[in-house]
Amino acid sequence: MIPNQWYPIVDASRLGRRPLGLRRLGQDLVLWRRPDGRVVAQHDRCPHKGARLSDGKVVGNEIQCPYHGFRYDPTGACVAAPCLGTSGHIPDGLKIESLPVREEHQWIWLWYGDRSKLRAELPILPAMLRPAPARARLCYDRPIHYTRYIESLIEFYHVPWVHAGRWYNSLDHFAIAGVPSRLFIGSGRRYRASTFVEGHTCVVDGERIDATMDMAIENDPLCRRFRWNVTFLAPCLVYLETHLFRAAQYMTPIDEGNTHVMMDWFEFVPLSRFLPPAVHRFINRTTMVMQKHGQDDQDYQIMLGQTPKVSDVGVNKLVAADELNSRFLQLRRRLIREAGGPHLSVIDDEPGRQGGGRVERAGGVA
Ligand code: FES
Ligand SMILES: [Fe+2]
Repeated sequence: MIPNQWYPIVDASRLGRRPLGLRRLGQDLVLWRRPDGRVVAQHDRCPHKGARLSDGKVVGNEIQCPYHGFRYDPTGACVAAPCLGTSGHIPDGLKIESLPVREEHQWIWLWYGDRSKLRAELPILPAMLRPAPARARLCYDRPIHYTRYIESLIEFYHVPWVHAGRWYNSLDHFAIAGVPSRLFIGSGRRYRASTFVEGHTCVVDGERIDATMDMAIENDPLCRRFRWNVTFLAPCLVYLETHLFRAAQYMTPIDEGNTHVMMDWFEFVPLSRFLPPAVHRFINRTTMVMQKHGQDDQDYQIMLGQTPKVSDVGVNKLVAADELNSRFLQLRRRLIREAGGPHLSVIDDEPGRQGGGRVERAGGVA
């Protein structure tokens, strides 16, 4: 996990008046709201005898443990221990840690890392703040390491291989490789053939990587090139924009084996011009549900079988079309190293570099 970062940990609408227990970034957390609505994040363990605070309830400006009724305020101090009576002495060590937390853009964000490095800005892109009246959101967990998940999302030439063969994939056939004059005729075959990546670009700027790539059928002048614009922003955001749609996905680690997937589908660009937002939102929602149970399920079956479970610089034999994948793994490594994380040896993973390079260019090792 990349330290010293804000991570979105849950859709803010999931936190109501009751405490919410969840596991994120290797920690069991309890979230609760103060009477004025502000969010508190604390470790989900009562220090008295280890009960889960998320099984308790919010009482005024405090959270109450379900086991013996001890109460903790937003700073984490124990302010009531009913078994001691009103004048009893509460030991100083009886407190829980309160963690830096924010609620913005309909997400609850948790700071992971050194508090002295706390940043003002959140990992969100200006493009994601553009008006999107039909935006829909879907969140779910998968037992996959976030590195493998991100790899899958920033690479599209697996699409014709993995996402063919189910009826709803035929909708993609036309979008990706269809020829307007032929409509759907032969589009399935063309779709499966459109696995050629051409003209990719990749620019790293600090903690952000912007890439473009076209998917096409090689040597087919009739093939409509499908241009992907993809941005990765540390620690775990992938933003996609094409002429048809734009969407963002955060992959927040639950722990070293699981990921919480959080998807915003902003719009189908051609529909925004004429569809009422309510209808458009319904289509967006339906798309995401199909995405989860269709495409993501297909990706998931592949990811389940991948080894090693955690991707990193040097564990793959990447090719030129994987430049964004390579840059992502390098950036992750750099940020972990800069945060003083476990020592990571530097491996030359420069795409196509002579000698020691682990990335091969199409047509041979560079
Ligand atoms: S375990 Fe929480 S009050 Fe005893
Ligand atoms: Fe996929």
